[in-house]
Amino acid sequence: MLIHKIEEVRAQVKEWKKEGLSVGLVPTMGALHAGHLSLIKKAKETCDKVVVSDFVNPIQFGPSEDFDKYPRTLDEDVRLCSGEDVDIVFAPSADEMYGGNKIRLSNDTLTYVCPPFFYVNTLCGKSRTGHFDGVCTVVLKLFNIVQPDYAFFGQKDAQQVIIIKKMVNDLNVPINIIQCPIIREESGLALSSRNKYLTEQGKKDALVLSKILNNIKTCYSKGITDVSALKETAYSFLTDKHDMEYLEIVDRDTLENKTKADDNSIALIACRVENVRLIDNIYLKEEN
Ligand code: PAJ
Repeated sequence: MLIHKIEEVRAQVKEWKKEGLSVGLVPTMGALHAGHLSLIKKAKETCDKVVVSDFVNPIQFGPSEDFDKYPRTLDEDVRLCSGEDVDIVFAPSADEMYGGNKIRLSNDTLTYVCPPFFYVNTLCGKSRTGHFDGVCTVVLKLFNIVQPDYAFFGQKDAQQVIIIKKMVNDLNVPINIIQCPIIREESGLALSSRNKYLTEQGKKDALVLSKILNNIKTCYSKGITDVSALKETAYSFLTDKHDMEYLEIVDRDTLENKTKADDNSIALIACRVENVRLIDNIYLKEEN
């Protein structure tokens, strides 16, 4: 069922809660692919009822980012969701979510959820000022609108899920956050709505991200733990097609920097290919 209005979602969820049913929320910005569908499948396994939100959130995009051209495929998204037996696709307008508020970052008009500096001033947050404020604000709004028992997020956006877990913990939000593994193409390319911007050649060049990460994991498994040495191994993969933004190895729960990698480390990369900003990550120890 496709719903655009906050009050209608609330009314439906209230009915479910009265019947004692558990509710899962999968927040997305639409342009659904198999990565999103894996979250939805997990939600269906875990909960009686599943709500998928489909909203390209203006306040998490910087002024020079791709908000205007971000793919919007609502009809196809609804079709995919019906295939997974999703109970509600919630697709509000920006006006429904933010009313009369100006939608660019402005603390004068909107109450923002601002995670601590340490979490937002690293990795993706360094080049995307205000991004995680926008993410946390919309996610908390969605949590308050839907009031799910569980919410599902992908490890693909590892910094995002760490920050959301922190927000939920710090603000006593009574929702279980479930993290789901990264879904990849057979080639190793992590699925992303932004892959649609890439040409066929670009998709091949983009394989370097997963190759760099896999190689770091292999080197770690062979006993190399020095973070600088592990990062050095990336350079042999890079060509003039790759504009690397960051490659870091940090603690996978706290994002803390390390000089020596350990079994709790995660390697994360952001790199532009054909001017499309792509991100990927890998746990150095576990299969993923
Ligand atoms: P979006 O990029 O649409 O992603 C929605 C969810 O799908 C996120 O939790 C993301 O980590 C997950 N996801 C994306 N690609 C994946 C993949 N290849 N494998 C597994 N999971 C994947 O992330 C957002 O939207 C927004 O920031 C949002 C949380 C909805 C707030 O606006």
